[in-house]
Amino acid sequence: MCGIVAYVGHREAYPVIIKGLKRLEYRGYDSAGIAVLNSDGLSVYKKKGKVADLEEHVIGRNISSHIGIGHTRWATHGEPNDQNAHPHYSASEDLAIIHNGIIENYSSIKKDLQNKGHVFKSDTDSEVFIHFIEEIKKSNNCSLEEAVRLALNKVVGAYAIVIMSRTEPNLLIAARKGSPLVVGLGKDEFFLASDATPIIEYTNEVVYLNDYEIAIIRDNSFVIKNIQDVKMTPYIQKLEMELEAIEKGGYPHFMLKEIYEQPKSISDCFRGRLNASTGHLLLGGLREYANKMVNADRIVIIACGTSWHAGLVAEYIFEEFCRIPVEVEYASEFRYRNPVIKEGDVVIAISQSGETADTLAAIELAKSKGAVIFGVCNVVGSSIARATHEGAYTHAGPEIGVASTKAFTAQITVLSMMALMIAQRRGTISERRYHEMLVELETIPAKVEKALALNAQIEQISEIFKDATNFLYLGRGYNFPVALEGALKLKEISYIHAEGYPAAEMKHGPIALIDENMPVVFIATKDSSYEKVVSNIQEVRARKGRVIAIVTEGDTLIPSMAEFTIEVPATDEALMPLVSVVPLQLLSYHIAVMRGCNVDQPRNLAKSVTVE
Ligand code: F6R
Repeated sequence: MCGIVAYVGHREAYPVIIKGLKRLEYRGYDSAGIAVLNSDGLSVYKKKGKVADLEEHVIGRNISSHIGIGHTRWATHGEPNDQNAHPHYSASEDLAIIHNGIIENYSSIKKDLQNKGHVFKSDTDSEVFIHFIEEIKKSNNCSLEEAVRLALNKVVGAYAIVIMSRTEPNLLIAARKGSPLVVGLGKDEFFLASDATPIIEYTNEVVYLNDYEIAIIRDNSFVIKNIQDVKMTPYIQKLEMELEAIEKGGYPHFMLKEIYEQPKSISDCFRGRLNASTGHLLLGGLREYANKMVNADRIVIIACGTSWHAGLVAEYIFEEFCRIPVEVEYASEFRYRNPVIKEGDVVIAISQSGETADTLAAIELAKSKGAVIFGVCNVVGSSIARATHEGAYTHAGPEIGVASTKAFTAQITVLSMMALMIAQRRGTISERRYHEMLVELETIPAKVEKALALNAQIEQISEIFKDATNFLYLGRGYNFPVALEGALKLKEISYIHAEGYPAAEMKHGPIALIDENMPVVFIATKDSSYEKVVSNIQEVRARKGRVIAIVTEGDTLIPSMAEFTIEVPATDEALMPLVSVVPLQLLSYHIAVMRGCNVDQPRNLAKSVTVE
């Protein structure tokens, strides 16, 4: 949430920052701003709206500068407006700050500062933060670097910050705790950003700051210290990301591109890990602690949103193949309810971004209770990837559309491989079934490709239902989490109210909603609950509900009952979510586009939820 970019070096800072902000806009898009330093002094320009609105706002201004900071906001404290947009000035307007995170004790600091005569222009915690730093600098008569350090020792909460100063034109000070920050190291130039996407086209050498670290970039040199003032040795990493992976590549939206990338992202997930012909299946990230999972008495999965849905699919897979009881928890609930974690429990944390605050906090809580934590993350080097003991990356490539698509299928792919690997070691799966599953897994990219070929048909169906005000999504067994995911996709990008339910639960309440205006999407592929789902479809038809059914190719029964059917290739029921979710992603995409919604940046949302 909130994207930050900063630059100092020999280039013009403004184009680097604006381009970077556009890449980070998925993190928040309520308002945007920049600060630059030139003959006019330290100038801040900020505007409610998108980065494009900021660009318009600065036309005709003197923005030429070799140093600058920029921010794209997802509002936490204070409504999205020009005043609350970042950067924020200190009292003297000598310092400017960009901040991602929340300062929890800001109101007591603010009161103290107000008693000392400070006046605030915004409602944000971030403005308080920079006033606080300046006040410390003044009262201790110390350097800015020291003032930042002292302030960081006093604030409670999460932050990734970058500060620039009118009086030190070659200085940027950055720090992180709980919110991500990457430093890009170029030749005589430095970049700072919330993730590596604004940096990748300039340099592939980066340092991911750790919590409680401060980066001081001054006159072409770069030092990292911790908040105890101890110098740290930076760990310089090489970025492996390709520039084209973060561009739209001819698609009108990132979301559509990412939906279409799934055959490749699933194959990428297999690479070096799975080879059905030799029986090879190995997740290299599960090493020392793999035996813990093999001998686990219970698996607890923690995640949020779409990742939680992937966790639900994993629950079915692990229980079926490994015979280990699984509980799937919302990270936000888990972290606040004193959960029971016993010796023998293993925790799996799932997160695309690897930065979700609730998931991170749930991991820390589980760790404090002695649990071993496995991470399933997409973003390499992310906070969650680093906070877990071991794990497996999903290798789906950057997911920029705010609605998660390819991350979901990549998560299920990794979790399926994990479950099969563990099941084989536990002896809870027969050799035959194990090999059948490996072979079937390898066919999934081609089956997803076939599901994508249904796009034109799904677009036609979308046209018919685009004005609906409600939708129900129903499925059973492995397709129940798919129903939840289909409903989430639709509501978040089209703003149509949608609910996902286990099909059998319909009778316990939601059936009251069904009439001739209610579209009901059944995920009704041929599996062990097929007959039951057929009965549920009849119940909806009997009440004149409009049925759209996702069925297995060749099914003749459901097409005779449903108003619309979408046929996907057959696969093992445990792997069906990887295929059956694809038409639902396309359905929500087309409906949202037809309704004129911004599918890549739906209102009120942000890609990585770094606040609780
Ligand atoms: C939905 C969506 C969110 C995320 C959730 C968790 O399309 O994207 O529900 O799945 O915010 O995010 P991660 O996986 O980054 O922890």
